[in-house]
Amino acid sequence: MMDWTDRHCRMFHRQFSARALLYTEMVTTGAVIHGDREKLLGFSGAEHPLACQLGGSEPQDLAAAARIVEDFGYDEVNLNVGCPSDRVQSGSFGACLMQEPQLVADCVAAMKAVVKIPVTVKCRIGVDDQDPEEALDALADRVLAAGVDALWVHARKAWLKGLSPKENRDIPPLDYGRVRRLKARLPQLFIGINGGIPSLNASEALLAEADGLPALDGVMLGRAAYHDPALMGAVDRRIYGLETGDVSPRQAIEAYIPYIEDCLSRGIRLSHITRHMLGAFTAVPGARLFRRILTVEGVKAGAGVEVLTSALAALDEAQERAADRIADSAA
Ligand SMILES: Cc1cc2nc3c(=O)[nH]c(=O)nc-3n(C[C@H](O)[C@H](O)[C@H](O)COP(=O)(O)O)c2cc1C
Repeated sequence: MMDWTDRHCRMFHRQFSARALLYTEMVTTGAVIHGDREKLLGFSGAEHPLACQLGGSEPQDLAAAARIVEDFGYDEVNLNVGCPSDRVQSGSFGACLMQEPQLVADCVAAMKAVVKIPVTVKCRIGVDDQDPEEALDALADRVLAAGVDALWVHARKAWLKGLSPKENRDIPPLDYGRVRRLKARLPQLFIGINGGIPSLNASEALLAEADGLPALDGVMLGRAAYHDPALMGAVDRRIYGLETGDVSPRQAIEAYIPYIEDCLSRGIRLSHITRHMLGAFTAVPGARLFRRILTVEGVKAGAGVEVLTSALAALDEAQERAADRIADSAA
């Protein structure tokens, strides 16, 4: 998610689940081909499995960028056909490509011709006054024919005129049924769903049949996973069926500390890393104190891991005090 996630965020999220597929934010073909690749694409081996999302609409540029992505070691390359920002529209890629399904298929074919890793697409159900029944079928049919390995559908339209990117993530209504109907028509294609999925309960419901329509093949969580990373602690058990214990936020943070120490030794500021864990504890005693210590102390020059350990200690104390109060009132 542009401006939100980065490699530090992915590495933190990886502590909660060994299996969940993590995605980069969108990087444009121009940046990949001409920019600082290590800065844009660099990642830690422990982040696998990892997909890189590209933004672009020139088949040959996408092929060149996909090859670079594969050489970097990514497990999948994904094409963005869902982003509605003005910047993206002026470059004629992102969600406006919903209006050009054959061009998207050409992009997929060009990428498939040069890489061995899966090539996937993330799209909307339509844009503006498109009929989602026709628009999504047209896109899916063409990318399937071009050999796409999976289609992820953000289950709402993007309205390219009149709504900000943020509004375009909330205002156009969600239509999960539309995505299930696509799966019914194209059972051979991996179809994943995204948009407004708040929890693992909701994820499990989408991964099961409903109302005579088939189960979807995958769920993609954006904002919920970012704001409440703790929900990912049960993903390996509940979604992947692994016989493994759930990971608590504290366990995830403790497992993440060696990575933070390594980043600090390379001159990265603590707050750049810990900003992704501000939502790790929600609705528990001490959560606000935890956040406050990280945001006030963590931004100071030279802040080290001790800020994080003191935030965890403050959380512990707040929880002990709360437990004492409950015991007192029960006595
Ligand atoms: C700050 C922000 C940045 C985003 N950047 C991207 C992006 O780079 N690529 C993309 O496919 N979707 C991006 N999205 C959209 C999300 O991936 C997702 O489709 C959308 O938020 C709906 O899913 P959710 O309700 O689970 O968050 C972004 C969303 C947010 C909030």
